[in-house]
Amino acid sequence: MRLQIQQTQDGSHTLYWPERDEHYHSVHGAVQEARKVYIQTALIPAMEACSATGGSTVRVFEMGFGTALNACLTMQQAMMRKMKVEYTVIEAFPLPEDIWSRLNHPALLGIEDTVFQAMHRQAFDARGYEISPFFTLAKIKGDLQTAVLPDSRFNAVYYDAFAPSVQPELWQADIFVKIRRSCALPCFLSSYCAQGQFRRNLKAAGFTVERLPGPEGKREITRGTVL
Ligand SMILES: C[S@@+](CC[C@H](N)C(=O)[O-])C[C@H]1O[C@@H](n2cnc3c(N)ncnc32)[C@H](O)[C@@H]1O
Repeated sequence: MRLQIQQTQDGSHTLYWPERDEHYHSVHGAVQEARKVYIQTALIPAMEACSATGGSTVRVFEMGFGTALNACLTMQQAMMRKMKVEYTVIEAFPLPEDIWSRLNHPALLGIEDTVFQAMHRQAFDARGYEISPFFTLAKIKGDLQTAVLPDSRFNAVYYDAFAPSVQPELWQADIFVKIRRSCALPCFLSSYCAQGQFRRNLKAAGFTVERLPGPEGKREITRGTVL
């Protein structure tokens, strides 16, 4: 995959995939998009729901590790709230070092370079490694379509696949049935995608589906909840 680093409107980097004319994040601001779509819409509600029932650990599943932007923002929330997060990602095409090492995420977010490097250099062996006192990361290398996910595990799911027009196979109904089985109660799934068929697939899989206002440059996003 030939990728180019681009600066988005809030100053944060994203990657552009010219062959498919697709970006990893919103060109209106990668960080502002990630905060709105994943942190505010899935992570924080999951943390609040866990705290309300006396839980101390939130388990997050991310589809598409990419640049590690969502992982970095999640780690910061975990440290700020002193709440443990066990973060599991699946990634089919890990980025080469000559790409991730040039991203401005650590400088922009105030994350030490060594921590960002640790996230990217960690083995894809599905084991959880402690990145900070409140954040462990488990990386799986593989294709979500064929991956076996654990049952009843995750409290938050970040569904951050490339768009349905680029990778329609990752938005099929059976994917969301599999993800629904991997949800603990409660679970909050969020995505930047507002496509009607995606919402119908989520609903058919057993999620309660909401349309929520999106970040800058995007009218609506989607949340699926199981309570
Ligand atoms: C929109 S980007 C995700 C951006 C990422 N969440 C971040 O914070 O930078 C989509 C990601 O899904 C990965 N991907 C594509 N097809 C996949 C598949 N079949 N299974 C797992 N990951 C896949 C891509 O390599 C890419 O990293």
